[in-house]
Amino acid sequence: MPVSRPRPTSRRLRWIISLVSLVCASLIFAYVYPPLRYSNCYFFSSSICSPFKDWLPPINSCVLSDEEIASRVVFRDILSAPTVKVNIPKVAFMFLTPGSLPFEKLWEKFFEGHDGKYSIYVHASRETPVHVSPIFVGRDIRSAKVVWGKISMVDAEKRLLANALQDTHNQQFVLLSDSCIPLHSFDYVYRYLIHTNLSFIDCFEDPGPLGTGRYTTQMNPEVVENSFRKGSQWFSVKRKHALLILADYLYYTKFKLYCKPGMEGGNCYADEHYLPTLFYMIDPTGIANWSVTHVDWSEGKWHPKAYQAQDISYELMKNITAIDEHYHVTSDEKKVEQIKPCLWNGERGTCYLFARKFYPETLMPLLQLFPNYTNL
Ligand SMILES: *[C@@H]1O[C@H](CO)[C@@H](O)[C@H](O)[C@H]1NC(C)=O
Ligand SMILES: *[C@@H]1O[C@H](CO)[C@@H](O)[C@H](O)[C@H]1NC(C)=O
Ligand SMILES: *[C@@H]1O[C@H](CO)[C@@H](O)[C@H](O)[C@H]1NC(C)=O
Ligand SMILES: *[C@@H]1O[C@H](CO)[C@@H](O)[C@H](O)[C@H]1NC(C)=O
Repeated sequence: MPVSRPRPTSRRLRWIISLVSLVCASLIFAYVYPPLRYSNCYFFSSSICSPFKDWLPPINSCVLSDEEIASRVVFRDILSAPTVKVNIPKVAFMFLTPGSLPFEKLWEKFFEGHDGKYSIYVHASRETPVHVSPIFVGRDIRSAKVVWGKISMVDAEKRLLANALQDTHNQQFVLLSDSCIPLHSFDYVYRYLIHTNLSFIDCFEDPGPLGTGRYTTQMNPEVVENSFRKGSQWFSVKRKHALLILADYLYYTKFKLYCKPGMEGGNCYADEHYLPTLFYMIDPTGIANWSVTHVDWSEGKWHPKAYQAQDISYELMKNITAIDEHYHVTSDEKKVEQIKPCLWNGERGTCYLFARKFYPETLMPLLQLFPNYTNL
C-alpha cells in the first residue's frame, strides 16, 4: 500500500492557518485599540523606542490624556454656552492690593452717578484696608497672603473672580492694583468693556530668557514649549473666560508646580505666564492680546516707571490715552519689536482704559485733572 503522508501536510496547513489568524487577530486588535498615550508622548519618542518612532503618529496627534479630554469638554461647553442676558450688565472692578487703596477718592469720582452698573471687590493681602470712600466700605473679600511671583498671586486673582462671579449681573471682570488709575469716564470704560466679545488678556511670544527661557519641559505634554506665552497680569475678562479660569485645574496645576521662582535655576512667574498661555491654547481668538492697563517699561529697568506728583500733567494723560497700538519687545539679543494696532470691534482706537504705576502723592493733581482729561 502506498503510504499516504497526509499528516505532515495537514499539520503544516493548520499551523499556517493559525499563524495567519493570529496575525489577523493582532492587526484587528491594533486597529481597534491603537497605542494610547499613557500620560505622555515621550514614551514613544524616547530613544528606547526609536525603531518604532517612524510609524507612530506625530506628537501633536497623540491621544490626549483623560484629564485633557475632561478639561477640553468643560472648556468647549463654557466657551460655546450662550451669554445669559441681564437687564443691566455690570463691570466688576477687582482690586488686588496689599492694604489701603490710595486712589479711592479718584475712583469715587469715576463711579459717581453710575450705581447699578459696577461692583467693587477688594482683596487686601497684607493688612485690612482703611476705606475713605463709602463705595469701598464692605467690599473687602476674604483674602490670603500673596507672595510676588508665586502661585498665591494667581490664587488671589481666582478668589476675586469667584466672589465677583456670584453676582450674575457682572459681565466683564477687571483686575486692578492699588497703584492703578482710570484714564476715561465711566461711560467710556463701560461701553468699551461691555460691548465687545473680547477679553483683554496680554499675550505674546517672547523667545528670549524672560519669555520661553522660563519654560521647563516638566510642563510637557500638556503645555508644550511652542505654546508658552507671556503677558502682563492685569487682565479684563468676559464672564465665560472668568468661569473658564475657575474651571481649569489641569493647566493651573502645571504652572503651580513648574512655573515658580527658582525653577531649574531660573525664575518663572505664574502670574505672567499662566493666563496668556492658557488662553493662547484654549481660545486664542477670544482675547485681544493686549492689556487695557497701561504701564511704561520704556526706561528698561526691572520695574516700570512710577509717576510722581510732578510728572502729572494734562499732556501726560493725553499722551497715554492717545496710544492706539500695543507694543512688545522680545528679551533676546535681537530685541524684536512687535507693534500692532488696538482694534476694538474692528476699529482702531485707544488701547488703554487704566494706567499704573502712580505714587499715592499723585492723588491731588489727578483729582484736579480728572474732569479735564476724561472730558467730563
Ligand atoms: C458678540 O457675540 C454675540 C453672539 O455671538 C453676537 O450676537 C454679538 O453681535 C457680538 N458682539 C460684538 C460686539 O461683536
Ligand atoms: C490674538 O493672537 C492670536 C494668536 O496668538 C490670534 O489668533 C488672535 O486673532 C489675536 N486676537 C485678536 C483679537 O487679534
Ligand atoms: C507727550 O508726547 C509728546 C510727543 O510724543 C512728547 O514730545 C512729550 O514729551 C510727551 N509728554 C509727556 C508729558 O509725556
Ligand atoms: C481744566 O480745564 C479747564 C477748562 O477747560 C481749564 O480752565 C483748567 O485750567 C484746566 N485745568 C488744568 C489743570 O489743566
